Amino acid sequence: MLHGVRSFASAGLLATLAVAFPVPFSTSTTAATSSSTSASTDRLVFCHFMVGLVGDRQSSSDWDDDMINAKALGIDAFALNIGTDDFTNTQLGYAYESAASAGMSLFISFDFNWFATDQGSTVGSIVANYAGHAAQLKVDGKPFVSSFDGDGVNIEAIRSAAGQDIFFAPNFHTEDIDFDTVDAAFNWMAWPSNGDNFAPAAGRHVSVTDGDISYLSSLSGKPYIAPMSPWFSTHYGAEVSYSKNWVFPADMLPFHRWQEILTLGPRFVEVITWNDYGESHYIGPLSSPHTDDGASKWVMDMPHDGWRDMMKPFIAAYKAGATDPSEYVTDDQLVYWYRPTPKTVDCDSTDTTMSGGANNSTGQFFEGKPNGWNQLADEVFVVALLKSAATVVVQSGSNYQQTFQAPAGISAYSVPMGIGQQKFSVTRGGQTVLSGTSLKEITDTCPCGIYNFNAYVGTLPAPTTLDQLQPEGLSQLTAGLKTSCPANTLSVGTSTATASG
Ligand SMILES: *[C@@H]1O[C@H](CO)[C@@H](O)[C@H](O)[C@H]1NC(C)=O
Ligand SMILES: *[C@@H]1O[C@H](CO)[C@@H](O)[C@H](O)[C@H]1NC(C)=O
Repeated sequence: MLHGVRSFASAGLLATLAVAFPVPFSTSTTAATSSSTSASTDRLVFCHFMVGLVGDRQSSSDWDDDMINAKALGIDAFALNIGTDDFTNTQLGYAYESAASAGMSLFISFDFNWFATDQGSTVGSIVANYAGHAAQLKVDGKPFVSSFDGDGVNIEAIRSAAGQDIFFAPNFHTEDIDFDTVDAAFNWMAWPSNGDNFAPAAGRHVSVTDGDISYLSSLSGKPYIAPMSPWFSTHYGAEVSYSKNWVFPADMLPFHRWQEILTLGPRFVEVITWNDYGESHYIGPLSSPHTDDGASKWVMDMPHDGWRDMMKPFIAAYKAGATDPSEYVTDDQLVYWYRPTPKTVDCDSTDTTMSGGANNSTGQFFEGKPNGWNQLADEVFVVALLKSAATVVVQSGSNYQQTFQAPAGISAYSVPMGIGQQKFSVTRGGQTVLSGTSLKEITDTCPCGIYNFNAYVGTLPAPTTLDQLQPEGLSQLTAGLKTSCPANTLSVGTSTATASG
């Protein structure tokens, strides 16, 4: 939501390092060859969770579904991003209680958009309040503590006020870290960028892997928290005080980044995020109870649940120390995603960012199409998770139909985006294994009048119930809109998914 994402180093410096980790487009092996994967590791997977968006939760039970869903996915701990809201302590109390009963772990990630770097003792005393809780993540026997930003914070004050040894794993710039004072470090830059917190531009391309190399080099053996994020799009206009409007290109990143992580094998991975709807990188359900900071305009009818399905075998493989996720695929499944309109569609006359004199003190506000829009591909992205080889057919609108011979394991495909219905099928040996039509069409009109560069994620088999924003998550839906915007328009009735054995 109110995150200012940052860069970690100059593009020029990193360009010379960007040589490692080639990423295959498809990983597949025959089951018989992938046998070296059963060793368990000390690897852990975290997921960044915005506590600032859940001030409306009434009890620990309002946290239970998130804990249960995350644990089922293989997430070991939520990184609870906190600011200085009045409700923070109440919600932390609920969260720790819920996590304890679900068998999940938690740690606090202090957001230095809100904490000041001279507040080390405040940070340490908050750590002390929760460190003894059953659900507190401990690494090497020490409570785990992280941050967003925070370069220059008084670490001695944090450690002293915490009153015990802590495992301190902040999100500092690599060039700022004093490696004697931290136990690990977290890299936030999970998207390709220009090295200066916007989308890549001509001659300025910093990949996520460039960031891995930079952090690993600086950490010289200390544990690294590698970032993984599926998407990035934000589109706040003058209807809020934190106007910002840009994208990072993601496209097939949800698949490619997991491939990179399996190759890299870091000690920790942090998925960005569970519930930051405003930047469109949520993997949690739309129905997860939260307040609306104005993001519902581009989040409504845009579930991302399928990305959890896609990630699950990757997470299992990562934790097992495997570089090939094939044997962790337990069911035949298709996961697909796409933006709701081609990028050429013109919404200037009705878009929320085109008028109102938004405050651009952050330098992150742009009028019209989000900054970086042209870096995205007008394609439908499909990941096949298959127990054995099969034929995948993708039809996007009436113009584009492509057939792929997909191997066993996890493989990825894309086809050009066509206006209209999106249809998918999987056949094997002449039998239909999966077939269905997405609940959401691609259109050449502006959804709710705006530029919406979020992704719709669907699956086959299709879910039998819809994942929808709840009333509090829709409360700001119409603020600033210039056209009508009916809420929760998807209907399961339009799906024709079948699944057969
Ligand atoms: C813009 O936002 C900044 C930071 O919140 C604030 O200091 C400034 O007063 C705002 N400017 C206007 C014109 O509202
Ligand atoms: C906001 O500031 C950034 C950085 O100075 C600038 O590139 C951008 O054009 C500004 N946006 C508007 C609408 O003027």
